[in-house]
Amino acid sequence: MRFDVFSLFPEVMQEYVQTSILGRARQADLIDVRLHNIRDYAADKHRTTDDVPFGGGGGMVMKPEPIFSALEAVLGEDLNSVRIVLLTPQGRPFKQSVAKDYSKQKRLALICGRYEGVDERVRQHLATDEVSVGDYVLTGGEIPALLVIDATARLLPGVLGDELAATQDTYARGLLEHAHYTRPADFRGWLVPEILRSGDHARIEAWRHEDSLRRTLHRRPDLLRAIELSDEDRVFLEKLNHKGP
Ligand code: ADE
Repeated sequence: MRFDVFSLFPEVMQEYVQTSILGRARQADLIDVRLHNIRDYAADKHRTTDDVPFGGGGGMVMKPEPIFSALEAVLGEDLNSVRIVLLTPQGRPFKQSVAKDYSKQKRLALICGRYEGVDERVRQHLATDEVSVGDYVLTGGEIPALLVIDATARLLPGVLGDELAATQDTYARGLLEHAHYTRPADFRGWLVPEILRSGDHARIEAWRHEDSLRRTLHRRPDLLRAIELSDEDRVFLEKLNHKGP
């Protein structure tokens, strides 16, 4: 899958996409991440990419021309078929379901805003999607773009070494993931639950499932309302509700 990211500070993303799982996925040609500097597409002598807002007020606004030129040049004939994501705190919340949807695309373009914002015509006439990574305001869309790439790329076949990992992890099933332990079994007197060391896979699976339910109930009860639970799960949760954490 190919990602084209448009930013005034592409260099801040370089290291991340070259490291660890994303770096390996790039080397294996599973993903192709291209970082583009919007400033390279500014046509004037000073390579201006922002300007004062019409109507006055503080801050600067990113100009539309360099952004349109950059995407037109890079996307070429794909311009009208590729999903073009504008990262903005006003966008729809980025969730696992959105990452899953994006992972089915062959190509994705991401536009990172800076300053007070991006000229409205980019939103209206260029972007196909607007995405927010949370209810807080960052100084730019670069971290959000990395977040979208990371969450999307790890769902692509072959990107995670262990194919099972992406289907079992937090949110894939709508529940938070169970606890993980590794060696040593006794660390400073804090013991790994006996069941996990028993070798009894059926009991281990049951323990993990219950741990997922317990964690989700205590940390994100809102998630439980959004999924279908078995009768067994309901009984288990009901018992926990009466017992408390
Ligand atoms: N740019 C600044 N804040 C953002 C957010 N929360 N999500 C996406 N893009 C942003």
